[in-house]
Amino acid sequence: MSARVIIGAQWGDEGKGKFADIFSADARVIARYQGGANAGHTIKVGDREIILHLIPSGILREDAKCAIGNGVVLDPEVFLAEIDSLAAEGIDVSPRRLAISPKAHIIMPYHKNLDKAREARRGSRKIGTTGRGIGPCYEDKACRIGIRAGDLRRPELLKSKIEAALVEKNALLRDLYKFEPMDAEAVLEELLKLAPRILPYIQNTDAELRAALDKGENILLEGAQGVHLDIDHGTYPYVTSSNTVAGGATCGTSLPPSAIDEVVGIAKAYTTRVGGGPFPTELLDDTGRYLQAKGHEYGATTGRPRRCGWLDAVVLRESARLNGIDRFALTKLDVLANLPRLQICSAYELDGERLDYMPQDEGDLARVKPVYEFLPGFEDDISGCEKYEDLPEEAKNYIARIEELAGVPVDWISTGPKRDETIYRGVRQE
Ligand code: IMP
Repeated sequence: MSARVIIGAQWGDEGKGKFADIFSADARVIARYQGGANAGHTIKVGDREIILHLIPSGILREDAKCAIGNGVVLDPEVFLAEIDSLAAEGIDVSPRRLAISPKAHIIMPYHKNLDKAREARRGSRKIGTTGRGIGPCYEDKACRIGIRAGDLRRPELLKSKIEAALVEKNALLRDLYKFEPMDAEAVLEELLKLAPRILPYIQNTDAELRAALDKGENILLEGAQGVHLDIDHGTYPYVTSSNTVAGGATCGTSLPPSAIDEVVGIAKAYTTRVGGGPFPTELLDDTGRYLQAKGHEYGATTGRPRRCGWLDAVVLRESARLNGIDRFALTKLDVLANLPRLQICSAYELDGERLDYMPQDEGDLARVKPVYEFLPGFEDDISGCEKYEDLPEEAKNYIARIEELAGVPVDWISTGPKRDETIYRGVRQE
């Protein structure tokens, strides 16, 4: 194996952190390739719960080298705070183990202010962003006025870039959004204060990944958010600002597409979504509240309650095709225990027509009606199940139906947050 990509097959929060941690056990290099501190990957190791926003989950494996790829947008303050909290847990987060691509863009304080100002102005059409400055930072990247990690080595360049950026940003902040304008000198000074601690981490991540590829070592490319938050293929405009699909892993790290030999989709056994946007199987009733409470469905980054609903197989089918998913890891199956009846959305109805795919025009997904299949629920607590055979028949039937509808085998089943609360039923050697 060379590179394996893991992606969230729904709208994020599928439990990628747990599987990134499991898969990183045999990986030599683990890289994040998109997004920023909007992500929140929760990993349970023994009794400890570790939440990572920027640093790849592989940091918990002593032998691995972790990389923050060029496709990531890096918030220096969050990065340093995360380093400090991992170090306090006794984890080695030295530059020997962690690198940042010089091509990764830096989230500046004005990006965060613009993110918040825009959201405040959107009113009922709020995207519900995490307020972490993600969109405005990617805008500057595309506009070719962004600040990259490598620029931290060149204070003069930083100064001119910040001054130029603030001419525009201050006009927006002050005149349109009625926010306080920002002072270029002060912004530069703050960044230069943080730079000395960040500089040793800025390394040639391309070379590191290529060396691992040449030696045939395992590489894990860790996606953040979910496929349907992808800037191109997601439920636009209710999306994040990066390519969350598996294809983003190559642009976001410099690895060629031919390096990827496996894509694993992480899918929750039901569906959740944070923020605004269409969600055909959303449950606004007691069942939705039950899933929210039992599944602890609160954002790891913002603490916001997640919207909950039945599993949507149309969403999974679309993910499978967009990403070439080879296998699924199904998470939080234990949360569904004790529900008398389970529902899976197998198609949609739109204007009297049956669709077995997600409509592409903006606004149409908000108008579809889910077509449901009903399956018997399972009563037993499955958190102690170690083997697939131990699962109740009804749970096995539920899994089998997901496989049929999405066209992808479910090779891992997660029955709890811990590493060992995982059933592996694939035929391939792990
Ligand atoms: P942004 O990425 O902060 O710009 O937010 C855009 C949309 O993506 C909002 O609906 C967020 O709630 C959602 N989002 C961003 N990151 C995550 C994540 O890690 N999990 C789930 N939703 C996310």
